[in-house]
Amino acid sequence: MPGVGETYWPEGDCGPLQVPVKFPRMPANPSPLTAPTAEDLSAWYRVQSAALAHDRPGEPVPSQAAVRAGLTTTGSSRRLVLWLLRGSADEPVATAVLRLSGTAAEGTPGPPAEVQMTVHPAHRRLGTGSRLLATVTEAATAAGCGTLSAEAVAGTPGEGFLATRDFVPVTRLTWQRLALDGIPGGIGELPDVPHPGYRLTAWEGAAPDTLTDGFAGALRGLPATAADAGDFRWDPAAVHETAELAARRGDRLLTVAALHDDGDVAGYTTVLLPADGARRAHQYDTAVVPAHRGHGLALWMKSEMLRRLPAAQPDLAEIHTGVPDDSRHLLAVNTTLGFRPLRRTVRFRLRLRRR
Ligand SMILES: CC(C)(COP(=O)(O)OP(=O)(O)OC[C@H]1O[C@@H](n2cnc3c(N)ncnc32)[C@H](O)[C@@H]1OP(=O)(O)O)[C@@H](O)C(=O)NCCC(=O)NCCS
Repeated sequence: MPGVGETYWPEGDCGPLQVPVKFPRMPANPSPLTAPTAEDLSAWYRVQSAALAHDRPGEPVPSQAAVRAGLTTTGSSRRLVLWLLRGSADEPVATAVLRLSGTAAEGTPGPPAEVQMTVHPAHRRLGTGSRLLATVTEAATAAGCGTLSAEAVAGTPGEGFLATRDFVPVTRLTWQRLALDGIPGGIGELPDVPHPGYRLTAWEGAAPDTLTDGFAGALRGLPATAADAGDFRWDPAAVHETAELAARRGDRLLTVAALHDDGDVAGYTTVLLPADGARRAHQYDTAVVPAHRGHGLALWMKSEMLRRLPAAQPDLAEIHTGVPDDSRHLLAVNTTLGFRPLRRTVRFRLRLRRR
């Protein structure tokens, strides 16, 4: 992971420039991509793969198919706005994706928006990021959004970039990786340990009809995460949309849930298996309803998920997940399962002015 002290100028970090630098041919207010062509998407991928190789050396780069699916398939209540900036030789210089969500959470000034912005490593520190962020902020404000969130890897230029542009840090996350061949001995037996009053169940995609109401009730019973209050609620519609979106992209969403004898859904955990056959899965939500906490259900559900994964995708090698620092319990559960830290990120939020 590059540190703050790395060299950003292609030709040295002080003194006059020794080689000509191509400034991006960037209009003052670049227009979003309305109908991205195959060439636009492949240019987009060139920026992403170069940035990932630079910013997170050694980490696998997602496939072009996965990046394309992420840009072209979206949920019914969300809208994506894309910007692709090119340089004077038409080379791709920067990308930005603005995720607009349709509904505002209670007590918030407007629907939340999220931005993910990337400047190609060869074109950084030339003002592109600043101008692109101004464009994106303007678009989110015009769409009536109340906040704009963004996440940057801790200790990289992205953190300083956001912090010096009025974004306020709201959550720190630890990203973890579990190598499936590195699961500690004994974890395989955990799903068989009885938890009196509870049983495990599993499904793929949306919750089965018999559990739909109970699952929605469990989600409503979860407190907003202090980590990101204002943006994030355990919203049944959002969880349903995640399953719907996974199906549209061809990804598989697996859920393991703990059911109480009285019929309540006490907790659940989900893992996404990507459609492109990548050997990496993504751990999504894990939550236990407050009334059922303290019974070891998170570890129980997650160990059952690990037991099921090899059958679901035989060549799966690893799982990645991001855990907010205030979820100490979840961090401890993951460590027990063999997850190890990969990197830390900071989630920032900017309050947008009302129009
Ligand atoms: C963050 C990022 C978008 C900045 O793009 P950029 O084109 O270099 O940004 P700009 O040239 O407009 O602005 C650079 C500003 O960011 C900050 N910055 C950038 N690199 C920095 C560094 N190495 N050290 C300290 N501050 C840095 C400074 O405030 C700088 O302003 P200055 O040059 O006037 O001092 C780019 O580094 C990037 O793509 N990083 C990876 C993805 C990411 O972290 N995105 C941000 C979250 S969405």
